[in-house]
Amino acid sequence: MITTRTSRPKPLLRALAGETLATPPWWLMRQAGRYLPEYREVRAKAQDFIELCLTPALAAEVTMQPVRRYGMDAAILFSDILILPYALGQSVSFREGEGPALDPIGNHKALARLDGGRVISRLEPVLETVRRVSAAVGVQAALIGFAGSPWTVATYMVEGGSSRDFQRVKNWAYRDPQSFSALVDLLVESTTNYLAAQIEAGAEVVQLFDTWAGVLPEAAFERWVIEPTQRIVAGLKDRFPDCPVIGFPRAAGLLYERYVRETVVDGIGLDPAVPTGYAAEVLQRFATVQGNLDPVLLMVGGPALADAVVRLRREFGGRPYVFNLGHGVLPETPPENVGMLARLLVEPMVA
Ligand code: CP3
Repeated sequence: MITTRTSRPKPLLRALAGETLATPPWWLMRQAGRYLPEYREVRAKAQDFIELCLTPALAAEVTMQPVRRYGMDAAILFSDILILPYALGQSVSFREGEGPALDPIGNHKALARLDGGRVISRLEPVLETVRRVSAAVGVQAALIGFAGSPWTVATYMVEGGSSRDFQRVKNWAYRDPQSFSALVDLLVESTTNYLAAQIEAGAEVVQLFDTWAGVLPEAAFERWVIEPTQRIVAGLKDRFPDCPVIGFPRAAGLLYERYVRETVVDGIGLDPAVPTGYAAEVLQRFATVQGNLDPVLLMVGGPALADAVVRLRREFGGRPYVFNLGHGVLPETPPENVGMLARLLVEPMVA
């Protein structure tokens, strides 16, 4: 047998496989974005945000920008969770400073107009971006693919955008769970297919963003967060047993434990409000923890940032850990603070 040179596994993959590393691998949610001048320059070249996501040369470039500048241990595909409703045939747009706007789906009839069959062909440009980044990413950084979780994507599809109280989507889910589950089933199936296609195109890890997991009471959380996530994880593990999955049920509070135990994710993203002592004692036994620096501390920088990073490493560094924020990088973040963070994270811990 000819033995080829085996590449040393990437730090992020080692941590997600359950290894404890001396310096934690790191990346940042929304690491490509408006805080970077080179992102704003590329963004200005595209007509709109969806076009940026669907132009592989530009999307691959902005995916790599933060990794080139700071040397993160992961590149995360540049796209958006709302590209899936777009691919299903819903109208989706991003207006400057106003957030996303969708033509809301209010009932079973509107649902019938969506078509899960064309998702992969409509998202071919995103898969091409994955292929390009996969070729460019090198031996240190891993490529993360992602999608929104069915519940969170459904909130945008039904509310028509961001929401404060989630009245419309909850109304539908509580009043007529049978027909709401048709929407969730469509999302489970198309999300599984879409993530599988990302893995085939070169994604080495996938993350499910469940930004609005924290607005549901336990019974609804079980039905609309845990069950759909279980089905996606199982579907992916069936086909790609070695590809780690990270779940991020933001603001799930005391339901984090059920989520991590019942979905069997490899990594669990923690929002900034999850107490580190609790997470280290309870959640870190079941999965690699990822997080959970307050994004405002990254914006503030200085000693407040340095202290918080030391504390997080002390709390989580003794078990499998991936350093990240508890939510996305804020557009107002000074780029030099991310440079400071990169330097703090390669320093060995002093006892
Ligand atoms: O993390 C990364 O760098 C990868 C790219 C990425 C984006 N959005 C790019 C983006 C990822 C992983 C997302 C996920 C996403 N998108 C989530 C889940 C995570 C979270 O933040 O809670 C959600 C809820 C969305 C939906 C979304 N996209 C909203 C509400 C907005 C508008 C608000 C805003 O920050 O502008 C977006 C737009 C968006 N997605 C931008 C970026 C860089 C800004 C658009 C621009 O540059 O004009």
